[in-house]
Amino acid sequence: MNPGSITPLAGRDHPSFPVESLRAQFPALRLAGSFAFLDNAAGAQVPQVVMDSVNRHLLEHNVQRGGRYAISVAVDAMIARARAHVAAFINAGRSEEIAFGMNATSFIRQVSLAVAETLAVRDEIIVTDLDHEANVATWLQLERMGGKIRWWPMREDGCLHTDDLRPLLNARTRLVACTLASNALGSIVDVRSAAQLAHASGAELFVDAVHYGPHGVIDVRALDCDYLVCSGYKIFAPHMGFLWGRHELLARLPTFREDFIPDEPPGKLEAGTFIYENVAGMAAAIDYLAGLGRMLSGRRAVPGADSVREDCRTAMTAVKAYEQTLSLALLRMLKERGAEIYGVQEEHRVGERVPTVCFNLPGIAPAEVATAAAAAGIGIRDGHMYCPRLMRRLGLPVESGAVRVSLSHYNTVAEVDRLGAVLSQLRAG
Ligand SMILES: Cc1ncc(COP(=O)(O)O)c(C=O)c1O
Repeated sequence: MNPGSITPLAGRDHPSFPVESLRAQFPALRLAGSFAFLDNAAGAQVPQVVMDSVNRHLLEHNVQRGGRYAISVAVDAMIARARAHVAAFINAGRSEEIAFGMNATSFIRQVSLAVAETLAVRDEIIVTDLDHEANVATWLQLERMGGKIRWWPMREDGCLHTDDLRPLLNARTRLVACTLASNALGSIVDVRSAAQLAHASGAELFVDAVHYGPHGVIDVRALDCDYLVCSGYKIFAPHMGFLWGRHELLARLPTFREDFIPDEPPGKLEAGTFIYENVAGMAAAIDYLAGLGRMLSGRRAVPGADSVREDCRTAMTAVKAYEQTLSLALLRMLKERGAEIYGVQEEHRVGERVPTVCFNLPGIAPAEVATAAAAAGIGIRDGHMYCPRLMRRLGLPVESGAVRVSLSHYNTVAEVDRLGAVLSQLRAG
């Protein structure tokens, strides 16, 4: 089956995407019975292979790395394999460009503190009002260290346009920090164009790929960015984060490390001990996605980074196409119920978004909507989505914000329809 042939069809499950057999690989979906997980932007479920990998690590290899005994050597091998897997997943040139840690926020903080030490003549940082606060507040802190903040504003359509970035860039721009996809509105950002503009003025581009991670191919070389962060728990793995950076940039970055740690990536970015079992889980999540790629392509499993990369690319291309079906179904359902949708909503622009939609129902508080959904066994979220500035931009009170439905490749149009029935009832009073 050619994943490129999967085109969005609204109104029913896609015949060429194996959603039911994928759902069967997620024990939590089975265990939860009829409960619908429509809050995946806050964290996704994990397939059995991920649990097995975490368990196996704790059972067989729960020791510190760097020892001379076999169990410790196995931990080093697991970490090396996980690095190679993550590098393949995002098409990094070298596995040493991947650092493991606690979460995305702590990596953004770490890089921003390092950048603060290198401000000098280039002292301007560009941030956006679409981003998760983790990729805004961290950079705003640099104002205390001599940094000057400039804002790349979202337009009325809920998107960042690179035409608006162009005039902000100049010989003083040190770095642009932006998301690859909005965790609130679902809009995808043209990061490649942003990188080209940033580079043309001698600046760097830092990308927050946390929200985009489970929805499409990430290719750091095609994006041409300089740094990128992701969180495992959004991509079907346990809680952990990883940072990618261009090797020469990571090598120059001043970071905290003990004297005996060489000033080289990835060790210079990994102070302390990270959670090895969760890193084992991250590698298994990539195995799961690669397996999906092979299921779709019919290719055989071949060892090596090239096949992991190809298989994941196949999987994520198909996921993206299937999720467009979900986006269309969700947008139609919400429009039929008179919802005010924030961000990209025209059907012909569905390729510019992931299936994460923020909306409000006229005259009904967001909390009331999420509570009614919860009572019907559907998990969605209300509030500011960690984007308080975005809520203000949308003219919404930060305390109540909006309702968010965030779908994943294991969701179905039937689940969207169930939510539709709840919203209809709410509107009927
Ligand atoms: C777009 C985006 N960026 C950053 C974060 C923060 O990630 P973490 O929880 O790994 O620090 C999130 C979390 O929801 C997110 O959605």
